[in-house]
Amino acid sequence: MKTEGRDMFGSRLSAVLAMAGSAIGLGNIWRFPYMVGQYGGAAFIVLYLVFALLLSMPIFLSESIIGRTAHKGTFGAMRALAPGSKWHYVGFITVISPIVLISYYSVVGGWSLHYFTESLIHGFSMEKSGLFQAFTSNGTGPVVCHSLFLLLCIYIVSVGVKDGIERFNKYVMPVLFVLMVVIMTYSLSLTGSMNGVRYLLEPDFGKLNATAVAAAMGQSFFSLSLGVGTILTYSSYLHSKENILSSGIGTAAFDLLFALIAGFAVMPAVFAAGIEPGAGPGLVFDTIPYIFAKMGQDMPLVSRMVSILFFLSLLVAAVTSAISMLEVGVAFLVEEKGMGRRKACAVIFGITWIVGVLCAVGPAVFNTLDHLVSDYLMAFGGLLFTLFVGWKMKKETVRKDFTNGGSRNNRIFGVVYFLIKYVAPIGIAAIFITNLVL
Ligand code: PHE
Repeated sequence: MKTEGRDMFGSRLSAVLAMAGSAIGLGNIWRFPYMVGQYGGAAFIVLYLVFALLLSMPIFLSESIIGRTAHKGTFGAMRALAPGSKWHYVGFITVISPIVLISYYSVVGGWSLHYFTESLIHGFSMEKSGLFQAFTSNGTGPVVCHSLFLLLCIYIVSVGVKDGIERFNKYVMPVLFVLMVVIMTYSLSLTGSMNGVRYLLEPDFGKLNATAVAAAMGQSFFSLSLGVGTILTYSSYLHSKENILSSGIGTAAFDLLFALIAGFAVMPAVFAAGIEPGAGPGLVFDTIPYIFAKMGQDMPLVSRMVSILFFLSLLVAAVTSAISMLEVGVAFLVEEKGMGRRKACAVIFGITWIVGVLCAVGPAVFNTLDHLVSDYLMAFGGLLFTLFVGWKMKKETVRKDFTNGGSRNNRIFGVVYFLIKYVAPIGIAAIFITNLVL
């Protein structure tokens, strides 16, 4: 299906699967479980839900409205919708953000690739604890894995929106879901796993300090892929007759469900193995292999199989997210610079490969870029998109897109518009400033 010669997603389900593919990623499997543990269990989940509803959903819908109304990527959409203004220059930042993001995300994708092959070829053993340290301290392995991961992702993007991105997501997302449910079921069946369930579910409101509040907002943006133009770009491939409210809710629901499943797959196993759960970011790459090694002493075959499934899931989840980041820059070069898709892919690959290599060998570069994107650029982009829809676009244009010309969602439009125009920008700005001051 094409509009003005552009590739389009074939159906709403394909679009939701592609958006869910973008949303469900390392953020769900790697970040969410340790954040819930660190910041008060169910209390953090409640806060996360509030932010998802009041801030993330309005940003998601704003990105969808901009992309779908203009049928163009970030920069082009802002120029088309606000001609003669300077908005597209600001919009340019959201072309840069995902390029920065993919550079270090691809390094973590590379780690996942390494762990997947490790689980496949050698398995994890107690003698090899400290594997992560050993792997990352020598630059060659991480650089090779980052390169392979990035090559795989850019190849999928180069095939096209429909034949590459859509088709890949359509097949692998359901598989990913089944894999994670299998792993969760296994994890919950382990002796001692219920302590992990309790850890995730018992609300500890005492831990909800200002840092936890900012972390819940940041995690909610990161997890839904907001503020960096990916949802905007994917929405530009969404047909005008589709219901953006239901694709937004569908994506957010899949994303949350997946985060919870990942939490219940990881934490019960951590407790069953008798490990302290406060491992933080090292949870997936340090603690989990240790758990597989420990389990492998009693049940080598089962442990081996589950470890393969786990790291395959992590890898697949990372790929479907990474391709959505790459598409933003590729769409920009194709639409604004008139490049062919393959050439655009080669340029984006070149840039992100070089920055990624710096991240793979220099932890300081990695941490700085991660901090820059997840703590500042995402919130900044989110603020920008809501302001654009709420204050720059004409209300009638917004209404027309959101309600598909008045044929649906009419009653809820007022609430959504209020959230986009006032609640989300004020909320984001308030948390952002508190964060800077603290
Ligand atoms: N949502 C992805 C994850 O959870 C990360 C991501 C952020 C993807 C921004 C695209 C854009 O891992």
